[in-house]
Amino acid sequence: MIDAGTRLYCVFGNPARHSKGPVIHNAAFKDKGVNAVYLAFEVQDAAGAVQSVRTLDIQGASVTIPFKESIMEHLDWIDPAASAIGAVNTIVNKGGVLKGYNTDCQAAVAPLIPFGISGKTVCIVGAGGAARAVAHGIAAQNGDIIITNRTEQKGRALAEAVGARFIPGNKMADIPADVVINTTSIGMTPDVDQISFPPEAIRSEMVVMDVVYTPLKTRLLRTAEQKGCTTIDGLSMFIAQAAAQFELWTGIIPDVDLMRNIVIKN
Ligand code: ATR
Repeated sequence: MIDAGTRLYCVFGNPARHSKGPVIHNAAFKDKGVNAVYLAFEVQDAAGAVQSVRTLDIQGASVTIPFKESIMEHLDWIDPAASAIGAVNTIVNKGGVLKGYNTDCQAAVAPLIPFGISGKTVCIVGAGGAARAVAHGIAAQNGDIIITNRTEQKGRALAEAVGARFIPGNKMADIPADVVINTTSIGMTPDVDQISFPPEAIRSEMVVMDVVYTPLKTRLLRTAEQKGCTTIDGLSMFIAQAAAQFELWTGIIPDVDLMRNIVIKN
């Protein structure tokens, strides 16, 4: 029951209306008997979003596209790992002190570990906050990283930060990748016909992963599947990063199967 003691959690993003965050976190709150509610807020600026956390005493927030980097300067403390990555996807309100964490990094790399990353050529499409987290995770596993991005300057900066090569977007078809990871919003609902990697450059030996999970099968993954590639959808990363957020906020480990099933059903 929602009452005067109910605490507020939320996601800040733009777009944010497609987010499955409310579905999974509210299910987990109910399951664990936590008197809290989680809402999606489509906001215009990071400063205003953080001010609302302070004003309304919001207990915690997920941060998504395009605020994972710009939110950092408005927080009171950044976890050293998030600081090294250069992106925050989780805010924890500890008695009025706003702390920033990154739960994307480990969540992104976990589903790739069974395929062996060390020595593999991993192409990361994008250079935003999600890309930073993925790149740091892959670098920690000794993957040979190639960054490609629409905005060259941003792509080169990330490549330099993680000791990777940069290849411009118009040369993507030449990338000799073993693994391709889309970290951009390309292909996300409603723009489901967009694809983040040239279809003609997808080869059957590749492992292709998308961080987009709406739809679950993006055009990138459908194309890769048709070509016989191993594909990894965005849901595993999404659930893993959300479960880690829930634990940071409540100190309780949520039921990840419940989280996964509720996303698939909704
Ligand atoms: P987040 O912090 O959540 O990762 P972001 O910092 O806005 O979000 O980064 C989004 C990434 O997706 C960027 O690499 C962006 O490319 P630019 O650096 O050129 O902006 C990429 N991106 C988003 N929409 C895109 C599109 N339609 N085509 C190509 N790249 C796109």
